Amino acid sequence: MKKSLPPIGLALAAALLASPLTAPAADPALPHLATRHGVRQLIVDGQPFLMLAGELHNSSTSSREYMRPIWPQLAQRNLNTVLAVITWELIEPQEGHFDFTTVDDTLAGARQNHLRLVLLWFGSWKNGESSYQPAWVKADPRRFPWAKDRTGRTLNLLSTFGDATRDADVRAFAALMRHLREVDGQAHTVLAMQVENEVGVLGDSRDHTAAANAAFAQPVPPALMRQLVRHKAALAPELSRVWAANGCQTAGTWEEVFGPGRPDGVTPLAQLTPAEKDTLWRRFDWPVDEIFMAWRYSTYINRVAAAGKAEYNLPCYCNTWLQQPGTPRPGDFPSGCPEPEVHDIWRAGAPDIDLLAPDIYIPEFTEVCGRYTRNGNALFIPEAAANPENALTAILKYNAICFSPFGIEGRGGVGRDTAPGANGTPPPDPLSQTYALLNYLAPVILENQGRGTMVQLAPMDDTNAPPQEVKLGGYTLHLTPGAGLPGGGRRGGGGRLAGPVPPVTNAPPVRLVINSGPGEFVIVGGPMRVSITADQPERGGVVLGSFDEAMYANGRWVAGRRLNGDETSDNRNWPVLGSYGIYRYSVFQRQ
Ligand code: DGJ
Repeated sequence: MKKSLPPIGLALAAALLASPLTAPAADPALPHLATRHGVRQLIVDGQPFLMLAGELHNSSTSSREYMRPIWPQLAQRNLNTVLAVITWELIEPQEGHFDFTTVDDTLAGARQNHLRLVLLWFGSWKNGESSYQPAWVKADPRRFPWAKDRTGRTLNLLSTFGDATRDADVRAFAALMRHLREVDGQAHTVLAMQVENEVGVLGDSRDHTAAANAAFAQPVPPALMRQLVRHKAALAPELSRVWAANGCQTAGTWEEVFGPGRPDGVTPLAQLTPAEKDTLWRRFDWPVDEIFMAWRYSTYINRVAAAGKAEYNLPCYCNTWLQQPGTPRPGDFPSGCPEPEVHDIWRAGAPDIDLLAPDIYIPEFTEVCGRYTRNGNALFIPEAAANPENALTAILKYNAICFSPFGIEGRGGVGRDTAPGANGTPPPDPLSQTYALLNYLAPVILENQGRGTMVQLAPMDDTNAPPQEVKLGGYTLHLTPGAGLPGGGRRGGGGRLAGPVPPVTNAPPVRLVINSGPGEFVIVGGPMRVSITADQPERGGVVLGSFDEAMYANGRWVAGRRLNGDETSDNRNWPVLGSYGIYRYSVFQRQ
């Protein structure tokens, strides 16, 4: 069946704008997202905020005693934000009777240690399955139905086709947000909410309950079709290809518009060899099943998020179990999760979800960052391995709002246990050191995001690293790795990190060049040799005006030592940066 929608007239366009697909405006007094210089930033108490975070293990915040020694350790490790779980089963043990003890304990622990929070709502789903709903939900499958696979087997997850489940989840989340407004509406300890956790159908590529099968045989909802038509030119390429392959129809059943679903008789995941799994990932197999479930989950979750925001309007996001070699097909990974190929479906179904977030445990870190920054989606990484180099890439290259290794307490992150240090203090770990530097530099980084004035440098600590050239503000900086530069009084620099920032020992340091004004460059890095040429040499040779150790304080650069004379060979040549530090150059052209 090929049909096309009538052209969207003015009346319809106005109706669309006023439809539930339009999210409410953010409240500037509360933590909110704003776009500055084309980059979306989190604004907290009027200032951009960079979340240097870690996510706790799932069960940690259920016990105040368990958390008591952990909070100060997280602060000592230079986190400024903690991602912490709040569960439906603990806040609504009896229907309609709420107990916010775990919320209040979590707030108290964070506040006592000057930490901010992102709360993760474990409601109807967690990792595709359903185990955090209260016993009164678990015990009543008639009222709160479970999903089924194609053979009629009940899956371990609540069906999105349970309106009563959705409404109960809506009420619980709204109650949580109302409580947060009452107890945190002034302090702003909580900066954002994750709504559910890694949702999607596991065990089949879509839900096969009778209600799901009936909906699947129906036309694609016009609200979704309209959004796809409206954003046709900007859709994710994977979705565009699927739509085009099926004739770009603008009406029809799900399979008419997006092609056939998963056939019967597909080899189960457990019987695939690693090589077979490898060939399957990065494919968009049986897209209709994933698209159908993405619409179901996004519209369900939007009801939950919207009800919560109506009580207390904090930014909301959903996180993703990524398609990966070990779980390559929908149903192996949770089908309907906000995978990049279905972001447009999520945007249409869940306008109250501000961000679609990846949990990145695979080595293809930058590829994932790239796919999660398409179409204006800001990068928020709620779960990852504790890899400081990845934290730098996410924040400096992809303008991430949040970087947050999973299982942060007692461990440096997934897969890396750290022995407790002397006197119960955690040993310095690379991520903590990187966070210390990022904390110090965060105002500068946030100030320069999106302005084309900041360039991240590749690692230069190794003498074998290649030289780099950075073009900024009409000049080119030529940077040559300088490990092993000769010491002595004539060595330039001696720059050091000022203030409370600890020295970097075993962490990859932050390396940046910032064009902080006309003819003015701040370099965070070293040791290295630096020379500067002009992009228009006919205007004269480049002369070094001044060379300072630099610090950033109260929103501006301030000079440390003015380096000249013995420290820089009287500036006859370009001074060498003898050690890691922050340096400021001012240069001009002279005929
Ligand atoms: C991803 C989930 O979202 C987390 O809650 C946790 O279960 C981790 N996996 C475990 O690695």
